[in-house]
Amino acid sequence: MNTENTFLWGAAASSHQVEGNNTLNDWWDWESRGKVKEPSGIACDHYNRFGQDFKIAHSLGHTAHRFSLEWSRLEPEEGRWSAFEWAHYKEVVRTLRALKIEPIVTLNHFTLPLWFYKNGGWTDRRSILYFARFAKKAVDVLGEDVTYWLTLNEPFVYAFMAYIKGVWPPGESSCAKAFMVIENQIQAHASAYKDMHEAARKVSLNGIKVGAALSVSPFFPCREESPGDRLAVFLRNNLYNHMFIRSALNGIILFPGFHIRALRSRRAADFIGLNYYSYENIRYKGLGGYDMFGEPCYLGHHEKANEEKNSLGWRVYPEGVYLLLKDFAGYGLPIIITENGICTNDDNQRSIFIKDHLSWVFKARSAGIPAAGYLYWSLLDNFEWADGYSPRFGLIETDYTTLTRTVRPSGRIMADYIADYMKAALF
Ligand code: FCB
Repeated sequence: MNTENTFLWGAAASSHQVEGNNTLNDWWDWESRGKVKEPSGIACDHYNRFGQDFKIAHSLGHTAHRFSLEWSRLEPEEGRWSAFEWAHYKEVVRTLRALKIEPIVTLNHFTLPLWFYKNGGWTDRRSILYFARFAKKAVDVLGEDVTYWLTLNEPFVYAFMAYIKGVWPPGESSCAKAFMVIENQIQAHASAYKDMHEAARKVSLNGIKVGAALSVSPFFPCREESPGDRLAVFLRNNLYNHMFIRSALNGIILFPGFHIRALRSRRAADFIGLNYYSYENIRYKGLGGYDMFGEPCYLGHHEKANEEKNSLGWRVYPEGVYLLLKDFAGYGLPIIITENGICTNDDNQRSIFIKDHLSWVFKARSAGIPAAGYLYWSLLDNFEWADGYSPRFGLIETDYTTLTRTVRPSGRIMADYIADYMKAALF
């Protein structure tokens, strides 16, 4: 990836949040058991309307688009591929290519095929093989049209929401299982990385680039002077922000609470994807089990009385993206901001959010940090998991009754801002 003069930018989305009617996955099952505010249903009907949506992205100047494959469509039963659905995603990537938009493909963005889920999901060791097999197939079928791949989306968020907080399927509350899920996901990533590169040698001329999309936050001690808070911040930063990528690159999982395990490959990332929304203040909770990672507190270091928040209450902190880019630059790999965005009913707030965050991303680039792209979350308003349809993240407004799309001014402002920056920086 030549980060000197390439800057990929555009927006991101995931299958279950926009496609509609993903009836064969764990989320559909969870929704039909009444576990969410509202079910995903037809969502944005992006499955049928992707062509129209990508034309809008093109009209906004996007040069990249991140989306995910819906595994439950592609492998509806264990070991059985759906040729029809593979052809669908082939059409999706070809449509992007025809518009000169670089596809950035996530293999798994949270949702699991029901058969996989029923076999124990990510807590079962077989998950590693199942995932690597799926990843290889994806490169066999789509590899000639796709360069950038993300294996998993936010492994730690998934493990936390599904196995600690219990608000996502399977709704468990077990620290031991959450750690197992993370271990298996790291193994699955490393195996997939190896198998994908092998498969790519057969189908793609210029090779592929494989990374993962990690949810990252700067952490600050609640009380600057407290050694306990500082220890919790240190441990949390190492676990949440760095453990996945460090293990993938070192070829070994080495972290308290996890088994020491060698992975099937080392140097298992060609670039790093960072999803950034907000920061957290952390305070000491104890030394045993999960307590050692501390707990969020709402006072401290960065708290201001009227600090800006999004409509879900997440605090806005643009400089955080710079701190994270600086922190991750140490790995010596190109970094793409694979998600950054705001849910708000005030589009002006969105425009300012984008400008502020982008200016920190560009500042990082000017300082020599290999920030190679920025993908706003999300292209269009969509199904926000347990929070349903009320959070509005889109550059494009979705009318959920008529499914009409309307471009918000922030969509154009983002394009203008990037164009100005590129001119000034002589890309
Ligand atoms: C991220 C998820 C994405 C979306 C945004 C708001 O954690 O990856 O699917 O829900 O948050």
